[in-house]
Amino acid sequence: MNMGKNLTKSIPLIAGNWKMNMLSAGAKQLAGAVVKGAERLHSEIVLCPPSPLLGEVRTCLEHSKVALGAQDCHFQNEGAFTGDTSPALLKDIGCTYTIVGHSERRAYHQEDDTLIAKKAAAAHAVGLSTILCIGETEKERSDGKTLHVIASQLEKAIPASTTVKNCVLAYEPVWAIGTGKVAGIADIAEVHAFIAAKLPRLSGIRILYGGSVKAANAKEILATPHVNGVLVGGASLKAEEFLGIAEAAE
Ligand code: 13P
Repeated sequence: MNMGKNLTKSIPLIAGNWKMNMLSAGAKQLAGAVVKGAERLHSEIVLCPPSPLLGEVRTCLEHSKVALGAQDCHFQNEGAFTGDTSPALLKDIGCTYTIVGHSERRAYHQEDDTLIAKKAAAAHAVGLSTILCIGETEKERSDGKTLHVIASQLEKAIPASTTVKNCVLAYEPVWAIGTGKVAGIADIAEVHAFIAAKLPRLSGIRILYGGSVKAANAKEILATPHVNGVLVGGASLKAEEFLGIAEAAE
């Protein structure tokens, strides 16, 4: 019996992070195809397009079971923050989720755990749910520091406003993102069990895996104890591949 899964009893979340990809025509096509394919599925499905495409994708998702998510948000709801998007606006235009703390934001925009906690708290305050990302670099893993890094990120990046309802965690080992190198099932199981054990106050919180997930490896990953869904990058840009991943959760 798969105890990990039975203990958590959650609906899997299959989230597509389109990153900085897609133009409007392709986005509409992709979102439309996902909506159609999702009708027969039981998982929760979320699409996270680039900010300027949120309105357009929202229109495609209307009256469907596919939710809309952003890829990032600011920690203030208004002000002189050129180029940023507020949680209040994301909520207003129909987002249910926002990703925070993605490793690409950490690496290219110098975001640290303190800032990520502020963003998550601001998102929660307006009623958005967060997909809060954590994960170690290749060097941290080879130095044997994976669990230490994860513990520190959990301690600092999760604000007090977090509940099992308004937050999903995503374990994304940095070295597995966009590289085709998937973490071993034993490694995924170890980190996910560690995360679950570290958060007794958030018992039952969903924990996604992310990093080179595709239709061909999704079933095995989704069957791992304490894996409650996946956060998909590259493979979410093709409807068939993304739906194949969602099918694997059925
Ligand atoms: P890939 O699926 O392209 O490896 O990206 C994972 C990711 O970063 C999702 O947020």
